[in-house]
Formats: sequence, C-alpha cells, structure tokens
Amino acid sequence: MCGIVGYTGARRAVEVLLEGLENLEYRGYDSAGISLATQEGIYTQKAKGRLANLRQRLSTGVPESSCGIGHTRWATHGEPSDINSHPHCSGQVSLVHNGIVENYMELRRQLMDKGHVFLSQTDTETIVQYLDLYYQQYKDPIQAIRQTLALIRGTYALAILFADRPGEIYAVRKDSPLIVGVGNGENLVASDIPAILPYTRDYILLEEGDVAKLTGDTVEIYDPDGKLDLPTILHADWDIGAAQKGGYDHFMRKEIDEQPRALESTLSPRIVNGMVDFSIDHIDDAFLSDFRSVQIVACGTAMHAGHIGRHLIEKLARIPVSVEVASEYRYCDPILEKEDLVIIVSQSGETADTLAALRLAKARGARTLAIVNVVGSSIAREAEKVIYTHAGPEIAVASTKAFSVQVGVFYLLAIRLAQLAGQLDAKTCKDMVQALLRIPNDVQQTLQIAADCADAASAIKDASSAFYVGRGLDHCLTMEGSLKLKEISYIHSEAYAAGELKHGTISLITDGVPVIAIATQDALLEKTISNIREVKARGGYVLVICKANTVVPEDAADRVLRLPSSVTQDLFAPLPAIVPMQLLAYYAAVQLGCDVDKPRNLAKSVTVE
Ligand code: F6R
Repeated sequence: MCGIVGYTGARRAVEVLLEGLENLEYRGYDSAGISLATQEGIYTQKAKGRLANLRQRLSTGVPESSCGIGHTRWATHGEPSDINSHPHCSGQVSLVHNGIVENYMELRRQLMDKGHVFLSQTDTETIVQYLDLYYQQYKDPIQAIRQTLALIRGTYALAILFADRPGEIYAVRKDSPLIVGVGNGENLVASDIPAILPYTRDYILLEEGDVAKLTGDTVEIYDPDGKLDLPTILHADWDIGAAQKGGYDHFMRKEIDEQPRALESTLSPRIVNGMVDFSIDHIDDAFLSDFRSVQIVACGTAMHAGHIGRHLIEKLARIPVSVEVASEYRYCDPILEKEDLVIIVSQSGETADTLAALRLAKARGARTLAIVNVVGSSIAREAEKVIYTHAGPEIAVASTKAFSVQVGVFYLLAIRLAQLAGQLDAKTCKDMVQALLRIPNDVQQTLQIAADCADAASAIKDASSAFYVGRGLDHCLTMEGSLKLKEISYIHSEAYAAGELKHGTISLITDGVPVIAIATQDALLEKTISNIREVKARGGYVLVICKANTVVPEDAADRVLRLPSSVTQDLFAPLPAIVPMQLLAYYAAVQLGCDVDKPRNLAKSVTVE
C-alpha cells in the first residue's frame, strides 16, 4: 500500500530511486514520482500510472543529484492522477507518504482558513503544508516534524527532503513500515527490504516515534525526547535473486515453484528428533497449553490458511477454533478472555486490520501468537510470540508460497497442540510429522502437471463466471482457489461448500459455466460426486481436482486434474492440491493477457483499513 524509497550517497539518485520503486511497485502502481535534492532546490517529477510513465517523463533529462525520495502509489484519497501523485511539495519541503491522515479534512480546513491553497485532493498535502509552516517557524527539521506529527491522527511512513539541506533525508513512521538501509558511504530508507538489497543488506527497523536523519555517511536516530538512539543493525539474509524474477515471466509463477523449498525451510527447523518443537521460536509448552479456545484472525489468503488451520486444530487437538475476518473483528466486540489464544496470520505483518485485531486481543489480555513472513514487521514485533514462515520475499500481489507455509505452520501447531492436549500419542505424532515432511516433495511432484493446468485454464478462461466447490478441507481450498482466479484473471468466481450450491447458487449454473470441484477427501467423495452431478445435469463444465487413484465417473466430469500418486493421506492433501488451483488461475490470467503480478486495484501490503 504505497512504496517509499529514499537515497543519499554518491550515486546518481534518480537511478537508485527508480530501481527501488521497481522493487516496490507491488505495493501500489497507480502512480509514481520522485524528488531530487539539488543545490538549486528540489526537482520533482511524477506521473499517473505505472513506473514506465515516470521513466518516460524523466528520459528528457533530470538535474544531477545524489539525494532523493521516491514513491509508488496505491490511491486512497484522490483519484490516480499526476497531481495526486507523490512527492507532495510545499515551500521548502517535499515528502512521500504511505498511510492515511484520518483527520485530514479538519487539518485542510484549518490551513485553508489561514489562506493556504491545495493543489491535490490527497490527505498527504496537509502534512507537507503544516511541515513547511513549522519549518519556517523553527528552522529545525526534527522539531518541525514533531510539531506536525502531533497534529496528525492516522498512520504514516514519511521520507522528507528540505530544500536548504541537500544530502539529508528525514524519515519517521507510525503503523506503516519503514526501514533504514545502512550502506557504505550511502544510506537509504524504504518501505521494504527489496528496495535496499542492491546496495546493502544491513538495515534498521525504525521504531515508532523515532526520527531518522540520513546523510551519505551518517544515520542518526532521535527518540521522542530528542536523544540519539543506538539502533540495532539487522542483516537481511535474502539474496538479491530472491527478489528478482530469475528467468521467469512473472514473480507469481516463480513463487509457485518456490513452494517446496519454502515449506522445507519453514517445517524442518521446527522438527527435533521427529517431533514438533517450537524452541527456535521461544515458544514453550506452557504457552500452548490450557486455553479455552483459539481464534484465528487474518485477511484474504492468510485467512484461508486460517480456515485450514481451524480444521486441523479441531480435528487433531479437539480444541474449539473460530476464524475471524480481521476487518470485522474489533467492530463485533469479540468474546475474548485471557484464557483464549489468538493466532494472527499475515504474510506482510503490516496489514492494518490484522494489526488492529492483534492490538485488541492484547488489550483484552488474550495470549497472542503471530504467523508472519516478514521479519521485524509490526505484527511480528507486537505479538507475544511469533512463528516466522520462511517463504522469502513474496513479490507477486497474489499470494501463493506465503499461503503454503502458513498452512505448513498450522500442521505443526495442530500436531503439537494435539499432543499437549493428550489427543495424540507420541507415536502418532511422529507418524504425522513424517507425513508432513513428505509434503514438500508432494508439492514438487504436483508442479509437474503445470502443462495440464495451462491446458485446463484455456477451457475456462473465456467464462464470465466460475464456481469452486468442495467439502471439509477441500472447501477451505476452494476459497483460496477462487480468490486466486478472480484477483488475477478478473473472471468472477465464488467458492461454495459443495452441498451448499443447491441452496440458491445452482440457479447460476447454465451451459458451459465452469465449476471446479476439489475432491481430495475420500470420506466425502461420494457426496462431492453427487454435487458435481447436479452441476453436470444443468450443463455446467466440471473440472475435478483429486488424488491419483480417485474414481471419478466419466459422466460426472469434463476434465480431471490428478495429484501425484505420492499424495495418499487426505489430511495432507491440501498443500499439493492448492498447486493446480494456483496454476489454473495463473495460466488463465496469462492467456487473457492480464498483468499477473500487478492486478488492477490491488496492492501487496494493505496498510490502510
Ligand atoms: C491475495 C492476497 C491477500 C492477502 C491479504 C492479507 O492473494 O495476497 O488476500 O492475503 O491482503 O495480507 P497479509 O498476509 O500480508 O496480512
């Protein structure tokens, strides 16, 4: 949800900023812009649309500068347009913003009453205008920043230039991510690690309330009392290749292929002597014992992983679990006590609604456990305990490998919780762990059917609507499969419990409407087959995804995609089974000519409510 980058050092800033923005474009791509600090003042250029439009504008020449800030926007206040693009400038100040100023109407009115004129419809312009006012008054950037932020209600990550201080960048954040990349003779700020990787792997997580001042040679962090902080320098172990396409046409396709390795890296450190063990996460048995119920809170794909988690925990540990949509959670006054465990799931660790849900759970005294991919993200830092997934950077907006590793963690948790609750004996747990360790290989084998999936996609790509059906664990998968298809191919799609279709939605099934049925659960197979026969009888086009040896009557399906024969246990089928659904969506979108990695209207990290 908007990407920010800033550079100060010895290189040509324009190149560093454009490269950084390219690596952050997954965070929003409604417009892009840069400001460069020069001895003559600040030069700003911006353009609606993709980064390519900005590049085009800059191709006629830019002033020499080795210090600047850049922004790629996901529009919230004000339509995507040149004028609403960042950076926003006022007087001596230029800044880029990720977040939302909730009281911007009030601030705007106050400024207009003082005679200020607004050029854009954005909330951000109120920040830059106030900042310029205070800078004129105090002549001190940090004091001006603090005075301005005291007026603001909302969320922000800001990178700021002052015209009379070329070579200096100021940065500050609240509830939106921002890191400081510490290089050799050059320093950066960025919303996320991929933007700094070409220059440095060392970075500082900027604490809320701290203000960072960067020059080419120095990074100073001032705490709210104005004292210099000595921040911890972290090291990103991602290699740069992990954040690049590496010969693939799209990040999404690469990330689908990365799933076996991501699963392996997430599962194996938590298996010690054949048993699940969360020692590396500093989670002991006491933390995982003696609670009344579990609430899993997340958004989108992460929530779908949570639905699988619910099935697994309830089935194995017999503990009641509910799955809650994070954006609803704090508004429905959840019944939540200290005896409850709240599991927060988030790839980015920055999703605003999910973060707010975590804060509510903490305020109510519940135990909180986060399953997060991005190290040091807000959710990871604020939760009582965190289990990091090791998916590596997920760049494609549509989540794939992050989903798989989240589900992987739920298997680990369910097995451990079941053992601690006395529901599974040690031998059964060990057997389950062995089955779990075979999953990366099952997923690898499933990737071999990519060509079949591409072919199957060509049969559904021209549909205006599609339906996904399944029962039990398969129903959880339908939600994720359906979301993947609609978000990247724009084919309208819905997911249903297979038995639910006939309670209304079946009226939408007419000749050729694709229905993708997931049928990996033997105990529910006959029922699912009956449901797809109901669809066939109404002219629907049925594509079944099932295990290698599942008998699907010829007249019940138009096409069958089979998982490899190594997938035998129903409980462990969801991870291989999600692969054909991801591939189906991917190939449908490619065949339709869609922008797979950057679907319209979306952004990777949703840091606004
Ligand atoms: C869909 C997708 C989103 C995210 C959701 C939560 O492909 O990626 O639905 O899953 O926005 O994001 P995180 O996991 O970062 O909290």
